[in-house]
Amino acid sequence: MRLFVPYLGRRTVPRSAFGTKDRPLSRGQRTVPCLREVFRMAVKKAEKKVTDELYLKRLEKHHDELRWLYMELYNNSDMFAELLDQMREYYLARNNDLKAQDEEREANPSWYKSNDMLGMMLYIDNFAGNMKGVEEKLDYLQESNVNYIHLMPFLDSPEGRSDGGYAVADFRKVREDLGSIEDLQNLTAACHKKNMNVCMDFVMNHTSEDHEWAVRARQGDGEYMSRYFFYDNYTIPAQYEKTTPQVFPTTAPGNFSWCRELSHYVMTTFYPYQWDLNYKNPRVFNEMMYNYMYLANCGIDIIRIDAVPYIWKQLGTQSRNLPQVHTIVRMMRIIGEIVCPGILLLGEVVMEPEKVVPYFGTVEKPECHMLYNVTTMATTWHTVATRDTRLLRQQLDIVNSLPKDYLFLNYLRCHDDIGWGLDYATLAKEGIQEVPHKKYLNDYFRGWTGNSNSRGELYNEDLVSGDARFCGTTASLCGIERAGFEQDEAMMNDAINMDIMLHAYMFMQSGIPVLYSGDEIAQVNDYTYKDDPKKVEDSRYLHRGKMLWENAEKRNNPETVEGRVYQALDQLEKIRKTEKAFMAAADTWTLDTWEKEVLSIGRYYDGDKIIGIFNFSEFDKTAWINEDDGLYENMITGEKREARGVDIPAHSFIYLKKI
Ligand code: GLC
Repeated sequence: MRLFVPYLGRRTVPRSAFGTKDRPLSRGQRTVPCLREVFRMAVKKAEKKVTDELYLKRLEKHHDELRWLYMELYNNSDMFAELLDQMREYYLARNNDLKAQDEEREANPSWYKSNDMLGMMLYIDNFAGNMKGVEEKLDYLQESNVNYIHLMPFLDSPEGRSDGGYAVADFRKVREDLGSIEDLQNLTAACHKKNMNVCMDFVMNHTSEDHEWAVRARQGDGEYMSRYFFYDNYTIPAQYEKTTPQVFPTTAPGNFSWCRELSHYVMTTFYPYQWDLNYKNPRVFNEMMYNYMYLANCGIDIIRIDAVPYIWKQLGTQSRNLPQVHTIVRMMRIIGEIVCPGILLLGEVVMEPEKVVPYFGTVEKPECHMLYNVTTMATTWHTVATRDTRLLRQQLDIVNSLPKDYLFLNYLRCHDDIGWGLDYATLAKEGIQEVPHKKYLNDYFRGWTGNSNSRGELYNEDLVSGDARFCGTTASLCGIERAGFEQDEAMMNDAINMDIMLHAYMFMQSGIPVLYSGDEIAQVNDYTYKDDPKKVEDSRYLHRGKMLWENAEKRNNPETVEGRVYQALDQLEKIRKTEKAFMAAADTWTLDTWEKEVLSIGRYYDGDKIIGIFNFSEFDKTAWINEDDGLYENMITGEKREARGVDIPAHSFIYLKKI
């Protein structure tokens, strides 16, 4: 029999004897304990023993696999020992509330898959000035049925060279104008009291050029240079460029930048001030894992692994989605399960479906808990522009056929552009070609063609390939901006209907729906970024405007656009949270409607059946569904009817529940 001898670190004297890491006790403070204190210490020791046992149990379960993966990648047992040592330290430093939450979640591993989850992504400064401000606005979020907030990047990042905060200069410091680590801890604790989860970005592919490592590397310190990719001439960068596509072809062309101080090229897949980290160096992996555990210990529930496909680079490849990326993500999952099992990993994989799904790992060896349903999102907007639901239906069928363990995050808009990553092979069968189709979509959403009232702007237009992505808020893309500007009531009614219909359809998908802050009150594009020289080149700021609280005030007034959208979403969100057919584990399928403009989705769970029908066209339509199983109730109006030949007004929807 093989004995399990876990590595527990080198510490023998309990840290508590010297106070905590943040508040060490001075010699004078360490008084001789009184009897009560001796008793308290004994209780603490006993408690620690119990928690240590729990830690050991988790470690025992995963140790061999973690070691195997680490050695496979790094073959460095000293660094592995250091990693384990630190894991135990972070476990010990984790506060009791979080440890209790970990245990609860471990006992109910599907806790995040219920139908009551509703997310919202928000920029702290746009939403409420700073972290304390967000804390004051938690009631608003709760009133809006939100129980998961994604705080957009808030760590220290140089102004004007931050890529919206995705260029991190210090992983343990909050941007000064937003607050402090203590404010973050207070905010997460306040959220937990309200049963809300907090998500943050873990930008692990790169650091800011102002990060301490980059600063030291720039001074020529070899140890720090080895944490990035440096080349003293262009030979290897040129080879990389042959096979590695560009992320920002217009705003930041190429994958390398010239570092003047060092007279070297440095790899910068994103902006020139975002230096790619070299994960071939185990020091990089270890240190980033310490940052990850540190942030988890601040009370973060969901770690969004930013740009995860890019983290491993290999000459002669696209340097995307390489097998080593999966080894790293699996190790992150294991480290999480040992140290802080209450947290979830959300992978940001903005790729075609066959590249996205592997980031779930296998059912036995899972990687991410959740992934963005990015192709469905892009295909949704394609459907808006073409009124042809066939590609969307095919896409939904693919997602619905995946194992129910896989959980997707569904969304209409986020802080990034919409990249037209559609299934062009299928579209080609209809004679639709990629480049002209992208041009059509981009013209459509600028309101130039196809009977469109949309407003928005191109993003990273590549004049060579003819490619461009798109920016704008949901409300503006639906026509609310134009209708408001032109004071056209009929246009406004249609735009509001479309906005609500799209949300109703998004809520019908399996997974967790996530709103983009401002969408709940139909906020339109914000053009003020054009006056800011630090933002003007990046049109994603078009949909990153400040939350307009004076508009949110109107949310209960049904005479206003804000009130109409807010109240309609509120009703849908409440339906979603109470009806079990919206559970992630429900059977989900699409139905024939015999009208290509009309999409129908069915859901079934534990005796409950719901059918949703969505009309993507500006004309009234009939969904020629023919469910032969008796009466249904319209979940909005309460009307009873059969689910056959259902009339759906232009850009509207219906939810029917089998009674
Ligand atoms: C992710 C973010 C995006 C950022 C990029 C680089 O894709 O969503 O906003 O530009 O990572 O960090």
